[in-house]
Amino acid sequence: MRDEIKINPGISKLQPLIAPAISCSNLHSPFLPALKRPALDGVNCVIRSGEFVTLLGLNGAGKSTLLRSLVGLVPIQAGSIHINGLSVRSQPLRHSQDVSILFQGGGLVPQLTALENVLCGCLGQRSTWQTLLGFRRHDRLRALQLLQKMGLEAQMNQRTSQLSGGQKQRVAIARVLMQSPKILLADEPIAGLDVLAAKQVMDIFAQLHQQGMTIVTVLHDLTIATHYAQRAIVLDSGRVIYEGDCENLPDYFSIGNP
Ligand SMILES: Nc1ncnc2c1ncn2[C@@H]1O[C@H](COP(=O)(O)OP(=O)(O)OP(=O)(O)O)[C@@H](O)[C@H]1O
Ligand SMILES: [Mg+2]
Repeated sequence: MRDEIKINPGISKLQPLIAPAISCSNLHSPFLPALKRPALDGVNCVIRSGEFVTLLGLNGAGKSTLLRSLVGLVPIQAGSIHINGLSVRSQPLRHSQDVSILFQGGGLVPQLTALENVLCGCLGQRSTWQTLLGFRRHDRLRALQLLQKMGLEAQMNQRTSQLSGGQKQRVAIARVLMQSPKILLADEPIAGLDVLAAKQVMDIFAQLHQQGMTIVTVLHDLTIATHYAQRAIVLDSGRVIYEGDCENLPDYFSIGNP
């Protein structure tokens, strides 16, 4: 099963027409002694510009490691990653301007307000001096607009520790959007949210996708994944076992069984 990569034939005929936003070739992350293999054990996949792709797989399959490796947080042991045609190894700073990651759990600073958390999103784009001088009016305005877009204008001065899970997740989305990414990677963005909050978050992604953003999101809910995503990539034990449309997903519950 590990060596069987199924590419949906109908989709793959169309794909060469659109430029790849992300391509991974024989990607290996560093060897993990506890696992006796790397978390990513030869990943091959292509995500086209403007696609909405869901990354699926059981716990420990390597989904978070893959997303983290795409933004340079996990070293490449072997193989390659190209983002918009540039190698992640040789151009780490160039590609980091195009890609933003929404971490599993959101990663907000609980003591800061929603607005301050969103403003933190632009810190990487400012020099130390600019940061010491405080946020520019332009940045504050943009952060406020993003919070408005997320339906959180009323909560902008509330500490994020006082917000609900769904509200926190929307603050986290606003924070990554401060970076104006072309590609958004989201790791379990609706984990722990009720159906309404999950729908709000997924609808925001759908809207961003309609505006041209490439979206790659880890999901565990197959119904939601197939409703929103155009294509699925399924990982099992650090390898891609399926890449294709969501209708023809393999028997999900057999993944990981010997
Ligand atoms: N920093 C690390 N040190 C050691 N092992 C790690 C580290 N990060 C991940 N792993 C291991 O690599 C494998 C893949 O982990 P990863 O977090 O990518 O899985 P996942 O598919 O995101 O799982 P989940 O659905 O539970 O979030 C797991 O077996 C995990 O224990
Ligand atoms: Mg994970």
